[in-house]
Amino acid sequence: MNLDQAIRGRRAVREYTRDIVSEQTIRNLIDAAIQAPSAVNQQPWRFTVVRNQSLLDRISHEAKAFMLATTPAGSLSEQLLSHLRNPEFQIFYHAPALVVISADGQGPWAIEDCALAAQNLMLAAFAANLGSCWIGFAQKFLGTEVGKSRIGCPSEWVPVAPIIIGHPAAAAAPVPRKEPIIKWVD
Ligand SMILES: Cc1cc2nc3c(=O)[nH]c(=O)nc-3n(C[C@H](O)[C@H](O)[C@H](O)COP(=O)(O)O)c2cc1C
Repeated sequence: MNLDQAIRGRRAVREYTRDIVSEQTIRNLIDAAIQAPSAVNQQPWRFTVVRNQSLLDRISHEAKAFMLATTPAGSLSEQLLSHLRNPEFQIFYHAPALVVISADGQGPWAIEDCALAAQNLMLAAFAANLGSCWIGFAQKFLGTEVGKSRIGCPSEWVPVAPIIIGHPAAAAAPVPRKEPIIKWVD
């Protein structure tokens, strides 16, 4: 697969088979993630891998409650709110693995560095015939002290990118892109 195929073919995958993703495969994806550029080559990314399904269920439950309690009224669509209120909705789509990329410390570009690592990880997953999806629903809760304690994340880490990984159960349909808004400044 060439780079263009990977960039254009990757999709947010929300249906997974029950097949596990091996430790070696996850290590390979993390190895791709850390090839990302980082400001002043600080490489502030840290990785937490969660494969315990009961723990993911628990975090899903707590993250939904946290989002509903803390999100300002009007800032989430009715559709997203109805997902969060639905007891059957598991924010990780029962994927076999969650990789949380966290920033160690408060460096001025640590968040950007972690987002770049996240994109590498998702592209590498696609190239390995795996699906992935960034789960923003988990992000705020994982950033709390309780959330960090659930995944054994040190308090000085800032969870940036919770990304589920697994074997796609079905091909995800492409999502159309808006025309880019470009200002040419001569
Ligand atoms: C920061 C961020 C947060 C996201 N959070 C969620 C989420 O909580 N749940 C979800 O199903 N998808 C989530 N997504 C996936 C987007 O919905 C998806 O990338 C977008 O619809 C475009 O689809 P595509 O990735 O297939 O191109 C998130 C993506 C990003 C970049």
